[in-house]
Amino acid sequence: VNDHALRPQRLADYIGQEQVCRSLDIFMKAARGRGEPLDHVLFHGFPGLGKTTLSYIIANEMGAGIKVTSGPVIEKQGDLAAILTSLQEGDILFIDEIHRLNHVVEEVLYPAMEDFQLDLIIGQGPGARSVKMNLPRFTLVGATTRTGLLTPPLRDRFGVVLRLEFYSPEELVTIVLRSAALLGMHVDHSGALELGRRSRGTPRIANRLLRRVRDFAEVGGHQVVDAKVADEALDLLGVDRFGLDDMDRRILLTVIDKFHGGPIGLETLATVVCEEKNTLEDVYEPFLIQSGFIKRTPRGRVATVKAYEHFQRKSPSRLKNHP
Ligand code: ADE
Repeated sequence: VNDHALRPQRLADYIGQEQVCRSLDIFMKAARGRGEPLDHVLFHGFPGLGKTTLSYIIANEMGAGIKVTSGPVIEKQGDLAAILTSLQEGDILFIDEIHRLNHVVEEVLYPAMEDFQLDLIIGQGPGARSVKMNLPRFTLVGATTRTGLLTPPLRDRFGVVLRLEFYSPEELVTIVLRSAALLGMHVDHSGALELGRRSRGTPRIANRLLRRVRDFAEVGGHQVVDAKVADEALDLLGVDRFGLDDMDRRILLTVIDKFHGGPIGLETLATVVCEEKNTLEDVYEPFLIQSGFIKRTPRGRVATVKAYEHFQRKSPSRLKNHP
């Protein structure tokens, strides 16, 4: 059972993101009723929240094929042209990290999205020619972490823009119990809740931790994963009770101990913790902000009172009035 097998295939089996699912359900029903492909969809949200899963679900629900690619992989106009001309009527084209398309490629996408036209210049100088060709009507599904990363003309060509949120611990409990059943594991509610609380609001992390807990339970001879087993396994994995991992702790302790709680610029922080600036910004920071450990200020990132308390450190008095 790989990760893909844990993903729901149908909208009815999808847990959480209720508003997104309700909207998609209506738009897909309407499009099907008119015998048209669904309008282009842009998903935005942090990694692991379901953008890819929902794209496959759209293809299933629309009875359509799907081609999957990503922004950085499409280097030249010809690469995109090859993909577009291989699509069939109604197909879904999923482009992950769509904000990383280069602008030359992006310009081919505009007429393709708007008029289902492929519009290419071939050759250079006086011999250059423009070729036009009709494309099958398709649905572009784009995924990005933040819509602000897209150029306005690209963003404006999506008819449906949906934002994915972090999942609640209760939703993650349901997801963990579903995945456990698919993996043939016995996880009780208390065990699932422990996993749900410590998965940073992210199903991908919940499912990854679940597999590691399974290893732990199997080797330790535990028949059922309850809160105690989950807790021991997660402690061993270095995942604390808020779901913070080693990197999160390194980030927070850097801000607190090395920079007196901040403010510290993202670049500096990235250098000190030896992580990519983008990874820091898109993967680690959103959860630390969402869960109240870090605040973003115009002068940089600052640690909150909650962060100081989490590490049993005395917070500077200046934070007392501005937690
Ligand atoms: N597995 C991963 N994400 C899921 C979700 N949102 N619903 C059900 N199963 C999932």
